[in-house]
Amino acid sequence: MTNNINIDWKALEDQYEAATYARYPVVFTHGEGIYLFDIDGKKYTDLYGGHCVSILGHSPQRVIDAIHEQSKQLMFYSNVIYHPSRGKAARKLIEMAPEGFDKVFFCNSGTEANENAIKLAWKITGKTRIVSTIGGWHGRTLASLSVTHSEKLRLPYRFAMPDVSFVPFGNASALREFLSMNTDVAGFIIEPIQSINGCNMAEDAYYQDVRAICDEYGVLLIFDEIQTGVGRTGTFSFCEHVNMKPDIITLAKSLAAGFPIGAVLMPDRIAGQLSNGDLGSTFAGGMLASAACEATLEEIDVKNHMAHAPLVFNTLLEALKDTPIEIRGRGCLIGLKLPVEAKTVVRELFHRGWITGTSDVADVMRIMPPIITPTQTIEEFAKELIDVISK
Ligand SMILES: Cc1ncc(COP(=O)(O)O)c(C=O)c1O
Repeated sequence: MTNNINIDWKALEDQYEAATYARYPVVFTHGEGIYLFDIDGKKYTDLYGGHCVSILGHSPQRVIDAIHEQSKQLMFYSNVIYHPSRGKAARKLIEMAPEGFDKVFFCNSGTEANENAIKLAWKITGKTRIVSTIGGWHGRTLASLSVTHSEKLRLPYRFAMPDVSFVPFGNASALREFLSMNTDVAGFIIEPIQSINGCNMAEDAYYQDVRAICDEYGVLLIFDEIQTGVGRTGTFSFCEHVNMKPDIITLAKSLAAGFPIGAVLMPDRIAGQLSNGDLGSTFAGGMLASAACEATLEEIDVKNHMAHAPLVFNTLLEALKDTPIEIRGRGCLIGLKLPVEAKTVVRELFHRGWITGTSDVADVMRIMPPIITPTQTIEEFAKELIDVISK
């Protein structure tokens, strides 16, 4: 983009776009690795990654090359044809996914992945109710919104929603009690780390108990790994940390390093019950998305980037150990519980050239740094954060 400073780019968007986003008062022109540059040439360190998306930093070369090459050959054709890019992306994804996930259904976003996972639960079980968790966040289209706990987002549309109930996150007994009294439950959907809810974690045993309870009551267990997946927490899927397997894993965000994509992973025993037309989308598995996805996964795999995610977390843990800041999350999905309001801290860090984010919990800020972020950058960030808080 040419940096035409005579054009007011903020005013341009404000004039022509529906105003549904709160935005930083900044115009970014380009990104490079973990950095973003604004129209005045100011450099920012991006520890937020466009909301947990830029897992490899900005404009990673392998992904640029893959999109460029593919765009010269065939930009798009729908699922009525076979194409090498889609097959290769699917193969790489299944190779990197935990054992037992044999098939993928591609789509275009996180909410769409959850929407399709919920449809699968209805179809496979023949039952109608979905159970979600208090504080859970799963998307903005109707089925995904129905399992998103936020009353502000959900309640205005409740007249159009399926049967959904919420149980406390991290409390397996509450789930058991609910399922013992309700025989209409098709699926239980959880984020393994509740990100927007302040990177809320549960005990390891919770996930194993949930697995056993869902089996006992014939309920499909859906892991929304839209934030935790693709290696961000140090393993491809969070479930690998806790030695259990959900029935379905949903992915999006990091999966193509910034190119829009979503995916639903499932075992053969579920995929085998699907027939033509059960799920679908025009753009799903498009050539550019597939090429970007395969390149992203390849880069993560061959460079062993997943192994770096725990180092990022541990570096921050060490750097903040003598402070009142409490660190939550895993790998490169991190919540920081502050002794002050997070919003003010995030704003001040922004002025100092650091991009971070808030959460739905007033005193918890979040960072979702690219998994390539050097530990030295994390140490510098910790110093800056401590300084901001002390003031
Ligand atoms: C855990 C989780 N699930 C689902 C979604 C929805 O993804 P998308 O915005 O791509 O529809 C999000 C988005 O922030 C998310 O954080």
